[in-house]
Amino acid sequence: MRYKVYLIFSLIMLKVALLCGVLSSFSFLYPEMLKNIVPFQQLRPMHVSAALFWIISGAVTSLLVHSNNVAVIQTANKRLINTAAGIWALTISVIFAYYTMNKYGGREYWEFPPWLCIPLLLSWTLLMIGYGRHWFSLKNKKPLYQIMWATGVLFFLLTFIEQNIWHIAWIRQSYIREVTMQWKANGSMVGAWNQMIYGTSLYMMVKMSGDKSIAENKKVYAFYFLSLSNLMFNWGHHIYNVPTTGWVRHISYFISMTEWLFLISMIQRFKSKISEYNKHKHLISYKFIIASEVWLFLNLLLAIMMSIPAINKYTHGTHITVAHAMGTTIGINTMILLGSIGYICKVDTASIKIKNAVTTGYNIAQVSLLIFWLCLVMAGLTKGYRSRVLNINDFQTMMAPIYSILKLFAIAGIGLLAGMGMIIYYYLKQLYSNRLHHE
Ligand code: HEM
Repeated sequence: MRYKVYLIFSLIMLKVALLCGVLSSFSFLYPEMLKNIVPFQQLRPMHVSAALFWIISGAVTSLLVHSNNVAVIQTANKRLINTAAGIWALTISVIFAYYTMNKYGGREYWEFPPWLCIPLLLSWTLLMIGYGRHWFSLKNKKPLYQIMWATGVLFFLLTFIEQNIWHIAWIRQSYIREVTMQWKANGSMVGAWNQMIYGTSLYMMVKMSGDKSIAENKKVYAFYFLSLSNLMFNWGHHIYNVPTTGWVRHISYFISMTEWLFLISMIQRFKSKISEYNKHKHLISYKFIIASEVWLFLNLLLAIMMSIPAINKYTHGTHITVAHAMGTTIGINTMILLGSIGYICKVDTASIKIKNAVTTGYNIAQVSLLIFWLCLVMAGLTKGYRSRVLNINDFQTMMAPIYSILKLFAIAGIGLLAGMGMIIYYYLKQLYSNRLHHE
């Protein structure tokens, strides 16, 4: 399989997401200067799409490489997977060409001309056939990561179809109906990629510690059903803004909180099982897993806070929501994926120079992300307070102190770009020097 090509493509998507993120924040802050060169309304969809494509492509690539290490994927299935990857990458390139020509369509997060969903759907179907045949031929499907990978791949297809259900005229007849379906589908899709990504982190924990029981014990299986119920029902917290009954809100929020218990419990068990020797042998990948745990705790705190109705009243629709979205996609998903890609390109066996550079990039990224995330939380709280407690109606007056916080956010974004940029650069270097992980 052309793993390297998929890995390079995924890392390029991450780089584009970072670059467009930084540019869009400056374009928002200084519209007079930048609106004609890099307008915010053009950069936002580019940034968000690149972020989603990074996560989805990185998740699939990781699981394919790891699956192939567990049991070699047969040539006929590899051929299908390669075709799927080719169509996927080509379609995304066309999507970005449309974005640069200012041609949009579709719906939130997928704001490209809708016909491009057809090749994406075709690509995923081919991937499912190739990967599905491989999965069914596996002799040992017991490790939970195998089940999670398959669940993620299947549910991505279902949620992608759901995401496109607005093409049916009846759905579009009612705005509320359409928005509810959109938000529900986007929420469930997060559940689908979490299955792929958490499955990958479970696989890495088994490999790094050498202890298979981490993925094959009663507790972890029970938690799988919890995360499956999350995949199916946690979207409820994405539809808060549409009219719905209270109990739907409360149950879905309770379920959303439990998903993270799964990852926390998995990491705790892993930490108790890994020896000092193995920790140091895989230090960089280990650090990324630990970072994802820290970010998980921070996001859990924020989510619990956001769920208190008295606080939610002030924070809803503010930067707090953006802090939640980026805190989880960067702090949890991206950290696990960077750990996984580092493991695949054997960064822990690289030269001291490369290891030091990746560690420096890691440290810069963590510090920058913390400032970045705190700025968003602060901006959200300030906005909620000024608009809903102080009742300031004039937008410019209300936003004045928030702009200062957002300036710091944009600078921290540059730090994130620099830190992650270093990691991406050295991973690519490793890939070029042909250091793929094959056991
Ligand atoms: C791994 C890197 C990143 C990922 C995965 C990511 C992900 C996301 C996601 C999912 C959203 C949509 C949030 C929502 O709709 O509530 C978003 C929005 C945004 N991101 Fe990022 N992001 C990344 C890096 C950055 C960086 C480095 C910056 C630079 C400051 C940045 C700036 C922004 C801005 C300005 C928005 C729009 C917020 C708004 O419309 O209110 N992002 N990002």
